[in-house]
Amino acid sequence: MAPPGTEWWRSASIYQVYLRSFADGNGDGVGDIAGLRARLPYLRDLGVDALWIAPWYPSPMADGGYDVADYCDIDPLFGTLAAADALLADAHELRLRVVLDIVPNHCSNRHRWFAEALAAGPGSPERGRFWFRPGRGPNGEEPPNDWPSHFGGPAWTRVADGEWYLHLFAPEQPDFNWESPDVVAEFERILRFWLDRGVDGFRIDVAHGLLKDATLADEPEPFPAGGFSSDWRTAIDQPGVHEIYRDWRRLVGSYPGDRVLVGEIVFTSQARVAPYLRPDELQLAFNFSLLSQEWDAGAIRASIDESLAALPIVTWVLENHDVTRLVTRFGEREARAAALLLLALPGPAFIYQGQELGLEEVDLPDESRQDPIFRRSNGERLGRDGCRVPIPWSRELPERSWLPVPAEWAERSVEAQLDDDTSFLALYTRALRARPRGRFAWLEAPDGALAFERGDLTCVVNVAAAPIPVADVVVASEELGEALPPGAAAWVRRA
Ligand code: NOJ
Repeated sequence: MAPPGTEWWRSASIYQVYLRSFADGNGDGVGDIAGLRARLPYLRDLGVDALWIAPWYPSPMADGGYDVADYCDIDPLFGTLAAADALLADAHELRLRVVLDIVPNHCSNRHRWFAEALAAGPGSPERGRFWFRPGRGPNGEEPPNDWPSHFGGPAWTRVADGEWYLHLFAPEQPDFNWESPDVVAEFERILRFWLDRGVDGFRIDVAHGLLKDATLADEPEPFPAGGFSSDWRTAIDQPGVHEIYRDWRRLVGSYPGDRVLVGEIVFTSQARVAPYLRPDELQLAFNFSLLSQEWDAGAIRASIDESLAALPIVTWVLENHDVTRLVTRFGEREARAAALLLLALPGPAFIYQGQELGLEEVDLPDESRQDPIFRRSNGERLGRDGCRVPIPWSRELPERSWLPVPAEWAERSVEAQLDDDTSFLALYTRALRARPRGRFAWLEAPDGALAFERGDLTCVVNVAAAPIPVADVVVASEELGEALPPGAAAWVRRA
């Protein structure tokens, strides 16, 4: 762990803990804080610098905890505030930083404020903390505008007295109205609550969505198939949102210890993310551009170049709890090669739990699926459960588990991989220790391959070229002869 004041996050390896699928400490089939605490030494040995923990607040779990009912407590499913404090202390003892997931765009419909808003009725200050509006059409039977929800269906739900409320996600996730001073003040209180307990920063959910065009105008562009678009104009990315982050940056900056704000900001073009990373706003934002690339050298290079050109500091992401697992997207050998690409690029790298085990997307039976996307699209979109299956710790798989764990994962388990020097886990562990630092520059490479220097190492990724001779290999994605075959990557010492 870098000492305070050194902007540790600039080159950090940050491990994403999706808590309910990480480690189950009490055998109820759901991961929890006790389980995570017990596995902190695993994360230290893996060699990461920080954890980002998915929402652990009291929640009805309509969207896996991204529907928060109380921002200053812990869901009993996961533990207690005392357990959270103990976790923070243990993590810090092991020199692991802890970044919390904060969800400011929306809460749960079970949040006290939403219940108060429903009870208080139209025109009340309580409703002013959300987006309540009369409907359109003769009896107000049509939603106030044409916005679809990210999870399918309209972004509006009607309540008993005839008004509608806005939810960019599930109906159980009403959007806050950030024009309301109550909301602004409440989030300052919430951030302080956790900063005072010692968290090292926040991952900000839907960071670009907090403010809406207050006229609630229809979107100017027609909606793409599938509804919600990350390139929307009126529902997201309003100029005033930057003022919120300037305030938050001042707030975290008033605490000692170099705390970080990481925005989840999803646009097709990284140039649109750049304003959020101005010096007085967020330090980091996820760069999701590699997530949508095929295993294609030209496409990967173009995506890297676009990000490096557009952003003052670039993060790298190949997996998270919202997307199909990398092994399933690229293939197993390719996913190993991609790990070396990820960890050689300049800037912070995010690793989603199970990525280091090479877990594939699980094809779950319909009756097991829990993601609201599956339900709300009538099964047309499978949703994100397949990448959220609890990770296997030992060959003996758990008897209870909130999503079924495939039997083949016994041999993918941490226990099995720790015994195997050729495992995914061994590869990630080696690479995390040897992560190169220093200058980045592209080097010449055959068509279908990528090569760049990074400090005293060269990273060569043979995506689909003829075998490339390599010497002086520091880390390789697989056992090599004299040459790097297609689908493999290596870090070699620079001559
Ligand atoms: C982004 C989160 O990563 C995702 O899991 C969640 O469903 C939405 N935001 C809504 O909170």
